[in-house]
Amino acid sequence: MPKLLVVNGPNLNLLGKREPEVYGNQTLDNLNDTLKKLASDLGYELIIFQSNSEGAIIDFIQKEAPDAKGLILNPGAFTHYSYAIRDAVKSVAIETIEVHLSNIYTREEFRHKSVVAPVCRGQLSGFGFYGYAMALSYFADTGNNE
Ligand code: DQA
Repeated sequence: MPKLLVVNGPNLNLLGKREPEVYGNQTLDNLNDTLKKLASDLGYELIIFQSNSEGAIIDFIQKEAPDAKGLILNPGAFTHYSYAIRDAVKSVAIETIEVHLSNIYTREEFRHKSVVAPVCRGQLSGFGFYGYAMALSYFADTGNNE
């Protein structure tokens, strides 16, 4: 089965506990289970990763991207300042969709800028867990499934 990558950055391991009024009540395990089922129905294998560390995210992208068809990336707060994650995405040349649970444009001003988005196919922001599912269905509809 073709592979897709899902990467979640810092503090997303706390989903369900962290600011539920912003991020909802569901946990990262709930999200991962839902996505895995969806992906297998669509004929994809998901490789799922979360880290609070910038270097670990970069190492994962460098290692896994060559074998994968696409990357669904929520860089958490790194979105707003990590040129290193941006460079990693650009370096491996994998089609990437940036996802945010919250609508970053309705929040504090420092969240309005993404340094990663310019190297992505596009960005989904504000759809909660649906953003990941939307990204998955984009890859399934456009991807070469052989
Ligand atoms: C987030 C938005 C970021 O600004 C924030 O730092 C996060 C989560 C989101 O999914 O809405 O950690 O990426």
